[in-house]
Parts: sequence; C-alpha cells; structure tokens
Amino acid sequence: MRIGILTGGGDCPGLNAVIRAVVRKGIAEHGDEIIGFRDGWRGVLEADTVPMDLHAVRGILPRGGTVLGTSRTNPYAMDGGQERVLATLERLGIDALIPIGGEDTLGVATRLADAGVGVVGVPKTIDNDLDSTDYTFGFDTAVGVAMEAIDRLHTTGDSHHRTLVVEVMGRHAGWIALHAGMAGGANVILIPENPFDVDGVVAHCQHRFDSGYSPIIVVSEGASPKDGDLSLSTGEKDTFGHVRLGGIGAALASLIEERTGREARAVVLGHIQRGGTPSAFDRVLATRFGLAAVDAVHDGQSGVMVALRGTDIVRVPLSAATAQLKLVPAERYAEAEVFFG
Ligand code: F6P
Repeated sequence: MRIGILTGGGDCPGLNAVIRAVVRKGIAEHGDEIIGFRDGWRGVLEADTVPMDLHAVRGILPRGGTVLGTSRTNPYAMDGGQERVLATLERLGIDALIPIGGEDTLGVATRLADAGVGVVGVPKTIDNDLDSTDYTFGFDTAVGVAMEAIDRLHTTGDSHHRTLVVEVMGRHAGWIALHAGMAGGANVILIPENPFDVDGVVAHCQHRFDSGYSPIIVVSEGASPKDGDLSLSTGEKDTFGHVRLGGIGAALASLIEERTGREARAVVLGHIQRGGTPSAFDRVLATRFGLAAVDAVHDGQSGVMVALRGTDIVRVPLSAATAQLKLVPAERYAEAEVFFG
C-alpha cells in the first residue's frame, strides 16, 4: 500500500517515535511505501512530500520535534481546500492517510474520512485533552519538565521568601497543571475548568508564608478568575480559531505581591514543555500507536483513531474522539485541593 503520514498542530515529544514505528512496520511486515507530507495539512494541500524509507527514520526515536515538520494549516479554512487535498491524494495514489495530531488535525481527518478518504488517526498533544484516549504521548514529557521546574523553584522561592507563579500550557484543559502541580507539591493549582477565587489564592499564599515556607502556584495559561478580571489574550487567532493566550502568570504574581506585601515572580515555561527528548513512557506509547495505526490501515479500517484504554491500544471512532475535549473532572481537581495552602 501507499500510506501517507503527516504531523499537524503544535509539536510534541514522541512524534518521531510514531513516524519510525509506521515506517518500520509498514515496510518490514507489509512492503508498504510510506510518503511523508511536510508541515501537516500544508504538505497535502501543496503535494510537498518526502519519501520515508528506513534510512529516513534511522536515529529519530529519541529526538524531540518532528522530522516531517508541522503547521496549523487548516484546509477547511480556505476555499476549495478539501478538493485540493483529495486531488493530491488521488494524484499520488495514496491508499490511506495516517495523520498524527490533536483536536484540530484530527478534526480535519474526521471530515476527510466522511468524504471517503481512508484515514487512521494517531492522537498527540502535550495537553492530554483529546477525548477517547486515556493519555496522549507528549503529556508525560511535558509534565516531567514542569515538575522539575517546580522542584527547582521551591528552593529559590524559600530562600527569597517570595511567591513563585509557574505558568504552564493548557488552553482549555488543566491536565499539565494538575499533574505537574501534584507531582511538584504546588500550594495552589489553577486550571481553566475551575475559575478561581482571587481572595482564596491570596489566603493560601499567606498561609504558606505563615508556616515558614514560600508559595508555589501552578497556573494553566487558560485559567481565569471568577470575576474575569485577569483573563488575558493577545487577540490573535490561528486558522482553527484559537486565541493566543499568555500573561495570566505575570498578572497573578503582581496581584499576589500587592495583596501579600511580599515579592512575587512569574515563570512562563512555554515551549520548553514541548521541546526536547521524549520520556520513556511517551516513546513506548508513541511507538505502540504507530504500530497499531499500520495494523488498522491493513485491516481496512477508516475513520478511526488508535487510543490507549488502560494498558491496551484500541480503535475508537475519530468522530467521537474529536467531538469534545477531555477536561479535568471536578473529583480529580478535588484530590489536588487537599494539598492547597
Ligand atoms: O496545543 C498544544 C499547545 O501546546 C497548547 O497548550 C498551547 O496553548 C499551544 O499549543 C501553543 O501554540 P503555539 O505553538 O502556536 O505557540
């Protein structure tokens, strides 16, 4: 078979492990030809391809990023986008497509599957907010990076008797903040799913100072206060309509400094969470997803996504995976709240 592969949306540690697994299994077990599309859907729209043979995937398992490049190009945000995609696939004789992406990339994949394209999606996002899978690869690495930062911030915060606010990624879902904050022993964790009470946050900081230590607050970039005062965005939108966020950490730090009368600083981890080598968990999960995607293609499946359920890799409908985001449930947040203050 001729199988097309692409990586779309924000990059994520583990993408190369998926690509390697698809190429290695497709060629070794089935004699497939794997065609890489550069920079996500842009490569499909413009028929910008790269042959993915065994040589192309040698040594890429531990490398972060994606050897195929990525973009947030949305074929459905332009006139005739779908027709151009279909024309490329037809011209190149692509039998099936394996798009690796999050809600946006796989949202496009869902629509293409409805239009008759053979598609098997692979879930990826450091945010871990894709529905129908227990975990996406990249999340474990991002949480590890954030946890290490929090560990380091504890010691400098305590030395200077100041509040440190750590802003992590997570536009709509607070999974990174929740896991990194729990693992790092944060004194407050603020997530988009639970608009926070500013007075409550200040009280937790005060309590932490009173007990002789300095507060660490972990805040998702998409978190906002109940009264909406600190909610920030640049106003810029990408082609999928997402606003670019940023600044909640700095705004919160200055408010806490004012209200506690003690210094506060903000640290924005930003793209450090997405870069670099994947954790062992992410390498294994990404590899298993790649292998399972090739199996699904050869089983004649389409309109499905490979997913993790417990320790098994299963197939779920793409439409179900992209219908809504997987948010942090109230009971999971309540577990973290036990340690606030
Ligand atoms: O979607 C993954 C993500 O890392 C989000 O957590 C974050 O808001 C966004 O990408 C950042 O996107 P960009 O790469 O455009 O800065």
